Amino acid sequence: MELPFAESYKIKMVETIRKSTREERERWMRDANYNLFNLKSDYVFIDLLTDSGTGAMSDKQWSAMMEGDESYAGARSYFNLKESINAITGFPYFLPTHQGRAAENVLFSSIIKADDILPGNSHFDTTKGHIEFRKAHAIDCTIDQAKDTTLEIPFKGNMDLSKLEEVLKKYPKEKIPCIVLTITNNTAGGQPVSMENIKGTAALAKKYGVKLLFDSARFAENAYFIKTRERGYQDKSIKEICNEMFSYADFMTMSSKKDAIVNMGGFVAFRFEEDWKACQMYTIMYEGFITYGGMSGRDMNALAQGLKEGTDFEYLETRIKQVEYLGKKLDEYGIPYQRPAGGHAIFVDAKRVLTNVPKEEFIAQTLGIELYLEAGIRGVEIGALLADRDPETRQNRYPELELLRLAIPRRVYTNNHMDYIAAALKNVFDRRENITRGYLIKKELPIMRHFTIELEPAK
Ligand code: F0G
Repeated sequence: MELPFAESYKIKMVETIRKSTREERERWMRDANYNLFNLKSDYVFIDLLTDSGTGAMSDKQWSAMMEGDESYAGARSYFNLKESINAITGFPYFLPTHQGRAAENVLFSSIIKADDILPGNSHFDTTKGHIEFRKAHAIDCTIDQAKDTTLEIPFKGNMDLSKLEEVLKKYPKEKIPCIVLTITNNTAGGQPVSMENIKGTAALAKKYGVKLLFDSARFAENAYFIKTRERGYQDKSIKEICNEMFSYADFMTMSSKKDAIVNMGGFVAFRFEEDWKACQMYTIMYEGFITYGGMSGRDMNALAQGLKEGTDFEYLETRIKQVEYLGKKLDEYGIPYQRPAGGHAIFVDAKRVLTNVPKEEFIAQTLGIELYLEAGIRGVEIGALLADRDPETRQNRYPELELLRLAIPRRVYTNNHMDYIAAALKNVFDRRENITRGYLIKKELPIMRHFTIELEPAK
């Protein structure tokens, strides 16, 4: 008999999570102004808000923390981390930061001016926020197929090279500080970018004399998909694939809270010494001295170890197969989601579930609230709330896709939890026809509003 798949780890420590009643959840949701970010985590049974900083560290990471060197300058932990980053990315220079958006802040402070143009494949919201805050513009050049959730293609996160070339032709290179390639493409559904597409993007960057930045939060999951889906990479190790991917970039920003499986941390890494030097001042101003920049020594040590574990094939297979497992359960129930299943999450196609809710009442948010009320599961809206208002017209932007992201934390939940999530979604799906109204905005911030927004039910 062929042996079934099983996780490549066992569990050493557990944390209790509690169920609640529907009445309790209704009260909590109302008190939270219908914003899932405002819920106490104790009010959540299964927390799929994000896979960021929510992973379970290993015994080796915890023991590395005990050996952290907390020296202000030149700590051993910094050099451990430098070695680990260099082994995986080939980048010789880096600056630690407290998380991914801090890496963006440091790098963008150095390279972006007002009116600059940054083309990319679905910039993540903090990336877009940091660009627009500097009065520059993020131009989305993701392939159109990414918007058809039913389409099953292997590299749905790809950059559309002809859209990119149009942007590169239209604006002088002095206006384009870099191209931003996000691997994997979070916003499009945790979808990977192929090595061929990375190469194509790099070739255009070179042709037009602009730099290439990787937003690398989930680079290891991207490498796993290249290994398992792209011709010519089956026999390469994840580390070899990572090395090749990064060989095409000039710099990278990293949210270490994702594929490096730590609870906090990030960095910017550079190919060129002059770029590294130009960013040092911003690290010192915003983060800390250049050899710790927002991280303690123990956290840098855990990150150095996490990078090694996060690029281990067995680990990645366990991770990606769990997300796929949830996708297959949803298939059984006919629940539509961005296909194929993504690296870190399932993105439920809310527009195709709640067909009776108008877009002005925030379809994906409505589905997220329904799922929470049903079973205490917290996902996150990737739709019109996240899309913010147009910075010039202040009109709501309504993206083509309204998705409810169910992000799976790394090494945290079991497949029984996946069964529970799928069953809860099925219950909401079964009563979808009766859900006709969504929510209206009571209060919002001018930028990145979804984190703190206050809503009320539409009547
Ligand atoms: N880039 C991508 C692709 C991300 O997904 C994130 C964070 C960041 C940058 C910023 O990193 O959170 O460490 O400051 N994504 C989280 C998420 C928040 O839930 O997808 P950060």
